[in-house]
Amino acid sequence: MCCGIIGVLAIDGGSVAHVIRESLKRLEYRGYDSIGVATKYNGRLYIKKDKGKIDEIHRKLNLDALPGDIGIGHTRWATHGEPSQVNSHPHTDCKNQIAVVHNGIIENFLELRKELIERGHKFKSATDTEVIPHLIESFIEDGYTLEDAVQSTLAKLHGTYAIVVLYSHLKKLICARKESPLILGVGERALYCASDIPAFLPMTNKVLFLNDGDLAILQGGEIQLRRIQSFSSPIQIRKPVLIDWTPEMAQKGGMPHFMLKEIHEQPKAVQNTLRIRTEEIDRLVKLLNEANEIILTAAGTSYHACLYGGYLFAKLAKINSQQIISSEFSEKIGETLTDKSAILAISQSGETSDTLNAINYARNYGAKISAITNVVGSSITRSADYFIYTLAGPEIGVAATKTFLVQITTLALLGLTLAEIRGILNNSEVQDLRQQLFNIPKLIEQVIEKREDSIKVTADLLAHKPNFLFLGRGINTPTAMEGALKLKEISYIHAEAYPAGESKHGPIALIEPDFPVVFIAPQDNTFDRIVGNIMEMKARGARIISVTDSRKIHDLSDHTFWVPKGVPDIFTPLVNIVPLQLFSYYSAVRRNHNPDKPRNLAKSVTVL
Ligand code: AGP
Repeated sequence: MCCGIIGVLAIDGGSVAHVIRESLKRLEYRGYDSIGVATKYNGRLYIKKDKGKIDEIHRKLNLDALPGDIGIGHTRWATHGEPSQVNSHPHTDCKNQIAVVHNGIIENFLELRKELIERGHKFKSATDTEVIPHLIESFIEDGYTLEDAVQSTLAKLHGTYAIVVLYSHLKKLICARKESPLILGVGERALYCASDIPAFLPMTNKVLFLNDGDLAILQGGEIQLRRIQSFSSPIQIRKPVLIDWTPEMAQKGGMPHFMLKEIHEQPKAVQNTLRIRTEEIDRLVKLLNEANEIILTAAGTSYHACLYGGYLFAKLAKINSQQIISSEFSEKIGETLTDKSAILAISQSGETSDTLNAINYARNYGAKISAITNVVGSSITRSADYFIYTLAGPEIGVAATKTFLVQITTLALLGLTLAEIRGILNNSEVQDLRQQLFNIPKLIEQVIEKREDSIKVTADLLAHKPNFLFLGRGINTPTAMEGALKLKEISYIHAEAYPAGESKHGPIALIEPDFPVVFIAPQDNTFDRIVGNIMEMKARGARIISVTDSRKIHDLSDHTFWVPKGVPDIFTPLVNIVPLQLFSYYSAVRRNHNPDKPRNLAKSVTVL
């Protein structure tokens, strides 16, 4: 999901540096904050790496000049350690004989790093990855072969990884995967391993898919496969599959747009975000809990996440908070802030000027500033006293989808801990909810798998409508608002959202026969009242589209976007937003708009 890796072994002895650079260029959509390449030549490693985009770095360092017929490369989307030269991959051991590129997260890296430092290893970076070459080094010093050293290293790692290992003394690449993507390309003149097909597609369309837990050894023209867990003999090599995608299709995982790909990546993005370290959650919770008041601030979709946070903190942890749109922050809050105020700013890009401005305003009053962002090293991390990174990986589509889900996932984690330390829920209640939260990625996957086709049919039917009303109650009011924003920003259909109870105070005047009204209607404590709101709309001839797990609502609806039953009320927005994202996407496509690049909008808005 984040970071792109590549390994190239030229069977014919040709030089590989330019091949690696061009592959990285095609993987740039997976991460673009730093680049690095390592090659092996005459028994030593040559490495060039730096922070920045590939073309800039190539202009500065001339990556193609690296010598050798075997090498590895990496394009980074930082998760541990700011984008910088030292934190860029490849990472090496103490003697610069082993170079590793990695995509994933090593959860126990702090413990491993401490052990290695005690044994005399010298670390250069702040990354989780660097423990890998040092561990391999220590096993090789103990007399292991390279493949056994890699295998023993992997056995010590907790977390996720796709890695490629290059060793100065052998023309051999070792690669392995656990819950991060890695595939092999089988060319006439070279073998490849990479995060994704576009990396090597211009050279070969023969792809060998690795299973989770596979380790592959590339040497000569041969590929050998093993299982990471068993040191026994090689397993049988699978047959390569022929791919008929264009490189552009391949970048989008075979999907027509990044937005659709990113919607499909949501189960994984939420799963990764649920792995945020407990200590990180605890630190932010401490900051919030010690404050006299909590104010959440953001813009656009991130503001909708703030609204969710407001409902969640109140329901779960009995904490009142304010949510303020960042561009309104100073006007709304006036001079009421103190050094006991806590600000929680949310921004996927970490660069939104309105949000940074709100933070700066609050800082003048001595308020404590915390932030949630998806971009490591972004401006918001420098403005905040404390921040948490969500782990969605890069989002290319201008419309926020997976970054919204990981923001609300992070808020759910914060809410659970707040509830526990404030004694509102006991440990077993928290564990029970946490368990159910960890089940959400599976449910999101089900919604996408089972409902996408019928949502597309509904979008095709309704995409000509000029206006939509979105209504929700309670914790799904922000879901309605986010659903309306998605539809409006990519399909250019006018959409308004309201708390359903408010509809009778004005918006209902808009309703005429066949006017589409979208209800977010889970079976929670607001159920009876939302049924009443649906009846009011039906009585005026509205066309009802519902996101629901209830047969009763289905019977009242013209179109139903089914979601799974049994999700705890406070987590339903995590599932309920998904059909609305798909509906917006297919409406935009039906209207012949490019959902990845909506007119007049930018991915990060750096003007006030
Ligand atoms: C979302 O789909 C929008 N394009 C936009 O509203 C966005 O959420 C807003 O500009 C805030 O961005 P941020 O999360 O990067 O701060």
